[in-house]
Amino acid sequence: MEIYVYGTGCGAGELIDTALDIGRVTAFVDSSGGCFLGRPVISPEELATRPCDLVIVASRQAEEIGRKLEALGIKPDKLFFLKNHLIPVDRNQNYDIARDVLGDDFVEKLRQSERLIRVPLWTEREKISGPDSENDYVRLKTLEAICGRLAEIPGDLAELGVYRGGFARWLNRLLPDRRLWLFDTFEGFDADEAAGCASGKGFVAAHQNTSVPGVLSVLPHPEMVQIRQGLFPGTAQGLEEERFALVSLDADLEESTFAGLCFFLPRLSCGGFLLLHDYNNPRLPGVKRAFARYEEIHGRQTAVPLCDVNGTLVIMRPLTAP
Ligand SMILES: C[S@@+](CC[C@H](N)C(=O)[O-])C[C@H]1O[C@@H](n2cnc3c(N)ncnc32)[C@H](O)[C@@H]1O
Repeated sequence: MEIYVYGTGCGAGELIDTALDIGRVTAFVDSSGGCFLGRPVISPEELATRPCDLVIVASRQAEEIGRKLEALGIKPDKLFFLKNHLIPVDRNQNYDIARDVLGDDFVEKLRQSERLIRVPLWTEREKISGPDSENDYVRLKTLEAICGRLAEIPGDLAELGVYRGGFARWLNRLLPDRRLWLFDTFEGFDADEAAGCASGKGFVAAHQNTSVPGVLSVLPHPEMVQIRQGLFPGTAQGLEEERFALVSLDADLEESTFAGLCFFLPRLSCGGFLLLHDYNNPRLPGVKRAFARYEEIHGRQTAVPLCDVNGTLVIMRPLTAP
């Protein structure tokens, strides 16, 4: 088999270190000439004169190189493209070209590299991974990382805005020993507040489709859960002395979000976090307005915006807070 690797940079080096035996490489291709890893480096023009079964393009400039090689007469069905970290680019997601020449073992090694991008090296045992994290990877992995910082921080968990328990189940699973307070009407938004919602009737109607038993059925540790059904902040009455290590505030609308900030932030333990979902969501501008109102009254808060799907703001209570 005549197998060429286009590129002599990090992409090519990583390919040889992790997936492709150097003994199988006929030559590297680059304009630099000379030698790489004991193999000759030939020019693209010379490659075009040789018989070849496969060219693995291991370079960030994959698209540009592909055009160049095709212009030199190399057929597209001989080209397999890799980007950094060995992620195949869109052109050959199905790996068939590489499998035909290099076999299933090679393809499986590439697939492991692809998974590594979605599963950071620094986590020891994954509680959230694979398909579980795919709808909002940054949000869920940030939650997992934050939960790893809470061991010494006292307090319960809470969520205002539970809907069907999609996020609550992660709170419950990641911190199974903490009491989890769940606040929602469990029958959708307050009608008056929702009337002014920019997101439309479909959005409002969809959130009526939930129930307390339905939510409890998706939670791995329902015995740790306290349900507070009804309109917040009325449902927080009697909980004034509680303290919280981690709060998810996901009420979507301005007044409810503001009420949530006013109740939970002063009750956040030092070192605790409040995750304000939708802070940078242009479809729910009331969330940002509510936080601006809170800061206007109580002063600037310590907070980090995330680049997750809906722009969560992570608000922290410093360890040394008064
Ligand atoms: C976007 S959903 C929450 C989504 C949920 N966190 C998840 O992971 O799927 C917003 C929820 O907030 C609830 N909600 C908004 N304002 C509320 C209030 N004042 N009192 C109780 N529930 C409220 C709505 O009933 C709705 O279920």
